[in-house]
Amino acid sequence: MTAFADYGMTEFADRASKISISGIREVFEAAGEDAINLGLGQPDFPTPTHAREAAVDAIQSGDADAYTSNKGTLALREAIAGRYREDQGIDVDPEDVIATAGGSEALHLVMQAHVDPGDEVIYPDPGFVAYENLTHVAGGEPAPVPLREDLSLDPATVEEAITDDTAVFVVNSPANPTGAVQSERDMREFARIADEHDVVCVSDEVYEHIVFEGEHHSPAKFAETDNVVTVSACSKTYSMTGWRLGWVTASNRRIERMLRVHQYIQACASAPAQYAAEAALGGPQGVVDDMVAQFEERRDVVLDGLADMGLDVPEPSGAFYVMPKVPEGWVDAVLERDVVVVPGEAFGEHGEGYARISYATDVETLEDALDVMREATEAVR
Ligand SMILES: Cc1ncc(COP(=O)(O)O)c(C=O)c1O
Repeated sequence: MTAFADYGMTEFADRASKISISGIREVFEAAGEDAINLGLGQPDFPTPTHAREAAVDAIQSGDADAYTSNKGTLALREAIAGRYREDQGIDVDPEDVIATAGGSEALHLVMQAHVDPGDEVIYPDPGFVAYENLTHVAGGEPAPVPLREDLSLDPATVEEAITDDTAVFVVNSPANPTGAVQSERDMREFARIADEHDVVCVSDEVYEHIVFEGEHHSPAKFAETDNVVTVSACSKTYSMTGWRLGWVTASNRRIERMLRVHQYIQACASAPAQYAAEAALGGPQGVVDDMVAQFEERRDVVLDGLADMGLDVPEPSGAFYVMPKVPEGWVDAVLERDVVVVPGEAFGEHGEGYARISYATDVETLEDALDVMREATEAVR
């Protein structure tokens, strides 16, 4: 067999060379087979039965055999608009929605349509790993900004970071990896900053329904220009990460630009997933309330356990992550004892000294994991 090295060297594009492999994946690979995994970014609940059945029906009837409209079926986009109306009192025209392959593709479309090479993208640090990497894919310059002591993003920090080259800033509430929920006041400020500085605010709202205290507010509600672009998904709300169904909503002119990219990289979101999503969004929402109640109970178990160990933990109000400050060597000591947690620096330089714990697992398992963390804490003190 010929070794690959015998072939000529192929040059790779710069934009792909700048993309890092997620630090989250690295800790998964380091963990033993029987490890308790608190590194996961997906709910541990089943997708609602009515959503699964809608996809099965669409497959059986042949409705899911063909391309849908590039933006997605009208019925799905109406269901998405219906949720915005009912949940947040926001009017969204179904023509101003593109159904995407998860929130991930939606974020990609926003960056591709708004970031020129050399443009700066401001995003929270620690923050979701895609923001930096999708900025690179667009040829932009990452401009991470640190968080407040409570791990929320201060609008003043974003405003100070804006330069003539800033194209986009990202707001993510509830946030991954911190669980922080931005206040209504902050969201009004983000909207004002987008308006006054004429930059695009991308509001990543994939955890919008997983809020324990206060309420989710979208900056889209407060902007006076069309500078807020909203990304969301069925992934976390309905435990549908595997279905790959998200969306982006914005003004019609921005949607038309993003559609140009979407039609060539994706054509349309997967049809069976669109039918499942329509049923999830349009069906009974009690499943979401039940899941959120369970997440809240688990959050309290984890917060109490970590506080008992003497760790300093900013209290998260949403998503399903807790991000305590941890002593040096703590993450390794926990990993060595077969509990997977993610080091804060996987989410940016300012994540150093923290760890992300996902509580998307049952209380009993969480209690076992907390026992291990207690041991590890004592070992590194
Ligand atoms: C903050 C945030 N945005 C977007 C996504 C992407 O979600 P999806 O699975 O819908 O692509 C994730 C997934 O972990 C996330 O945490």
